[in-house]
Formats: sequence, structure tokens, C-alpha cells
Amino acid sequence: MADRGAGRDAVVVGLGGGVTTDLAGFVAATWMRGIAHVLVPTSLLAMVDAAVGGKSGVDVPWGKNLVGAFHQPVAVVVDPETLSTLPDRELDCGLAEMVKHALIADSNHLQELLSAAEELREGDAAAWGPLITRSIRIKAEIVHRDEFEVGERAVLNTGHTIGHAIEAAARYGISHGHAVSVGLAAEARIAARLGLLSDEDVQRVEEALSTLGLPQTVPEGLEPTSILAATRLDKKGRAGQVRYSLLAGIGRPSKQGVEWTREVPDDVVIAVLEELLP
Ligand SMILES: NC(=O)c1ccc[n+]([C@@H]2O[C@H](COP(=O)([O-])OP(=O)(O)OC[C@H]3O[C@@H](n4cnc5c(N)ncnc54)[C@H](O)[C@@H]3O)[C@@H](O)[C@H]2O)c1
Ligand SMILES: [Zn+2]
Repeated sequence: MADRGAGRDAVVVGLGGGVTTDLAGFVAATWMRGIAHVLVPTSLLAMVDAAVGGKSGVDVPWGKNLVGAFHQPVAVVVDPETLSTLPDRELDCGLAEMVKHALIADSNHLQELLSAAEELREGDAAAWGPLITRSIRIKAEIVHRDEFEVGERAVLNTGHTIGHAIEAAARYGISHGHAVSVGLAAEARIAARLGLLSDEDVQRVEEALSTLGLPQTVPEGLEPTSILAATRLDKKGRAGQVRYSLLAGIGRPSKQGVEWTREVPDDVVIAVLEELLP
């Protein structure tokens, strides 16, 4: 930035996947204590998740996303045509987050995703447009109500307590989307065991994941106990306690008093992970 003579009036443009948009956001947030930035996400995950909400994070040798900032872009520009070159594995990562958005906020959105499943797989940009727009809006509305994550924004972590733990237990050998997909299935079952979610709704979650071709079994070789141990490393923990954001219905997060997250007994987590072993 210095070499290029960037002053307070410079604008950072982040064109690429979530790694790029996060880095662009972080640079913009910290250069001269904050300059403007525009994000042009080109991966599905960056379009519906990383580029929306003003959070940026970069990985350091001590852990993922330990350094970052809150800094809103002045604009986010999305062109679904870019998805035509995105590998399937990367598409799955974004799809898993779109399913998450539907599950926490809008059962219609889930239905629309399922109806369009085939066109989406074929990379039909016209089919993607409205679905991406809806997904972005869901995240943006939640962020708007709780920009700095003191409460409701935690619902965006649905499926991610188990998801992050699976990623860490697999030493990041599987994709984030794969882990989140399994996390959504696992956390739906956890919610059912705690009496928050009906068995029919658990089934709907599982059917949605399979219709969209997303995985829901624990990756080969991972033990439930090692996944449970990895949940304790989740940075969303509070006073050393692991917190889960669970569903109360399709499109409806559960809330306990003023709390959007809750603790889950270890034996419930282990029992559910055992059910999901391959
Ligand atoms: N800030 C947030 O709120 C937030 C939320 C979710 C994820 N993230 C971050 O986002 C990152 C993951 O984002 P990602 O999944 O986009 O990963 P990524 O940026 O690594 O992109 C995935 C791969 O796809 C390639 N790619 C991107 N667009 C392409 C296109 N149109 N055609 C072909 N290839 C393309 C990239 O070069 C890369 O190899 C992580 O670092 C994560 O921490 C941030
Ligand atoms: Zn995620």
C-alpha cells in the first residue's frame, strides 16, 4: 500500500474468493485506520457469506482467523456468471452456507434451493441470481440487527460448532463446506435430543442436504471423542464453555431467554456423532 502511494482517499478492491475478500477487508480496515473498500466476490461462499457483514479475518501461525477487524465495504458486487468456472467442491462450500441461511431464517428459501437444485448444479447463472440475492439478504439483515456479534449474529454459527470441530479434527484436510454440512446434520439431531426440534424437521434438514448433494456423515477416520475435544478450541466459546446455536424449526433459531446460544452435554454430542459415523 505504501509502495503504491495509497492515501486516505485510496479504495481497496477485493476481487476473488473469501480469502481475497477477507484480506482486502483487513487491509482496508487497518491502512491509515480504515479506508474504503469494494468487494467483488467470485466464489459462491464469498458471495453469500465472506463478503457480507463487514467481518474480516486472516490466519496466523497460532490459529485461523485470529487477527481481523469489523469494517463494512462501501459496496459488494456479485456476478453469478463467475460461478461457471468454480470447481464443484467450492460450490458445495457456498451451498452449505445457503442451506444454513435458509434453516435459520426462511423455510421458503430452502424450498427454492431444493427446486432449483439441478439447474444450480449445471451452473445456470439465471437460476443462481435470485437465490444468491435472498441468501445475502438473510445474512445482511441479521448482521444489521447485531453488527458486532453481541447476540443474534451468533445464529450464523449454526452447524459451525460441530463443523469447525470436524475441520480441526481432520487437520483441515476436508473443506469448510463439507464440515459445515455434517455440522448442520449433527446439530439438528442435537437440537432434537434436547427437545428443541421435531424429528420431522430433522428429517427435512437431512433430505435437503441429500437433495443438494451435501454430505452428512462424519469423515472416515475421525472419532467422536476427537471431534468433541476439538469443539473446546472453538473461539466462540465463553468462559471456556462451548456454545451451540441450535434450531427450533426450519427457518427458526432457538432462543433461551435473551441467549441465542446454549451449552450441550457431552454425552448428547457423542451420541449424535456416533449415529453419523460412516
Ligand atoms: N468474513 C467472513 O464473515 C467470512 C465468512 C465465511 C468465510 N470467510 C473466509 O472465507 C474464506 C473461504 O472463502 P472461499 O471458500 O471463497 O475460499 P477461497 O478464497 O480460497 O476460494 C476457493 C478457491 O476457489 C478459487 N476461485 C474463486 N473464485 C473462482 C471462480 N470464479 N472460478 C474458479 N475458481 C475460483 C480460489 O482461487 C480458490 O482456489 C476463508 O478464509 C474464511 O475464513 C470469511
Ligand atoms: Zn461457514
